[in-house]
Amino acid sequence: MPVYPAEPFRIKVIEPIRRTTYAERQQLLQQAGYNLFKLRAEDIYIDLLTDSGTTAMSDHQWGGIMQGDESYAGARSFFNLEAAVKAISGFKHFVPTHQGRAAENILCTLLVKPGDSIPSNSHFDTTGANIRAAGGNPIDLVIDEAKDPAKPHPFKGNMDIDKLVSFIEQTGIESIPFGMLTVTNNTVGGQPVSMANVKAVSEVYRRYGIPFFIDACRYAENAYFIKLREEGYASKTTLEIAQEMFSLSDGCTMSAKKDALANIGGLLCMNDDALFERTKQALILREGFPTYGGLAGRDLEAMARGLHEGLDEDYLAYRLAQTAYLGEGLLAAGVPIVQPPGGHAIYVDAGRFLPHIPVEQFPGQALVIEMYRAGGVRAVELGSVAFAHPDPHTGETVHSALELVRLAIPRRVYTQAHIDYVIETLAEIAARKDALKGVRIVQQPELLRHFTAEFAIVA
Ligand SMILES: Cc1ncc(COP(=O)(O)O)c(C=O)c1O
Repeated sequence: MPVYPAEPFRIKVIEPIRRTTYAERQQLLQQAGYNLFKLRAEDIYIDLLTDSGTTAMSDHQWGGIMQGDESYAGARSFFNLEAAVKAISGFKHFVPTHQGRAAENILCTLLVKPGDSIPSNSHFDTTGANIRAAGGNPIDLVIDEAKDPAKPHPFKGNMDIDKLVSFIEQTGIESIPFGMLTVTNNTVGGQPVSMANVKAVSEVYRRYGIPFFIDACRYAENAYFIKLREEGYASKTTLEIAQEMFSLSDGCTMSAKKDALANIGGLLCMNDDALFERTKQALILREGFPTYGGLAGRDLEAMARGLHEGLDEDYLAYRLAQTAYLGEGLLAAGVPIVQPPGGHAIYVDAGRFLPHIPVEQFPGQALVIEMYRAGGVRAVELGSVAFAHPDPHTGETVHSALELVRLAIPRRVYTQAHIDYVIETLAEIAARKDALKGVRIVQQPELLRHFTAEFAIVA
């Protein structure tokens, strides 16, 4: 087993969590229609549903919450946030938003016309949905290595540059109002993007005159991966690496619920003066005045402090090693995962783990149900429950390329004992996995069914 990194913090406030009994969980699962989104959070022992907004804030951030300036316009907390955003990103303009998807929504509403295409390595689902809502097409051009879960690659989140160039040539720049790059690449397993790749993507977008926006939710984890893995970066600080990355782009969207270590918040940053004028108008319509953008002054203060704390290298070394510890522990227990471990989550390859359960019976959903039943651990299915869709031409169901289960790790929340408990729960399931049964859907909505569908265990 790898060594668990000692936490670079000590615990000042605790939140009790409750261990339910097996019989209780069995009943709670039945009541929830075997959909873990329908459970009450207080009935969960270890919650790995998401790393978004689930961070434990520091005493420095909580101190800032008390000092938040709630003035409608020109609040001190806004200027503190501005100083942090400028120091780290260097962008000329920014607005706060209530979360990442609000920044995406404003950008897409202002720039995307029906029929446009927006390339990226992989768009996150909210980004893809915002592009579609404006009539555009989100295009994913990640490297082929990302499609093989067992294949290790140091920067598996990279964009395929050849595919990007041919896509631009075929589509024409008139239909590409901007291009994106997601760091780290959540959709393929929280995998990092190298600086060489950011440079190459930037060079291509600039050559064609296409504005370049980074989806920067996990900019700090990505910077630390670059420091660890890319030649020439070992002696640079994560702040310098982040600054270099942002300098290669024209703007960014960011959910502050990840690496900015806040429970709510987002950012939309840019250099373009004219676009900024339009952004402020759209923000006032949707979110609020440009110095608070849908947030309380205290939230701005927590973000301002979190943006800097998220770049702390002791914290980042611990954070990435904690995720790797979970991944390697699962591999040692015979549980296949997307390799190598990513930044914020481990993705179990449920299709390979439970080969006796056909995709029509959702092996990923079967596994998340069993993780809760066996140990009170909540994870999320990211397979055919979440992603299967009808073929637009034949109407037949197209299943997800991979049947994954994501174990996302909230920042600074769980200790080694908690992570060991998750590994032990999965090791115990691995020992009897052939007896696990698939599920069928008994009720589902038309869209985004994984949030509310109900299931039954296949007899
Ligand atoms: C890569 C990426 N982009 C955008 C978002 C959307 O952010 P938010 O949930 O704050 O709207 C997320 C959230 O998980 C994400 O992971």
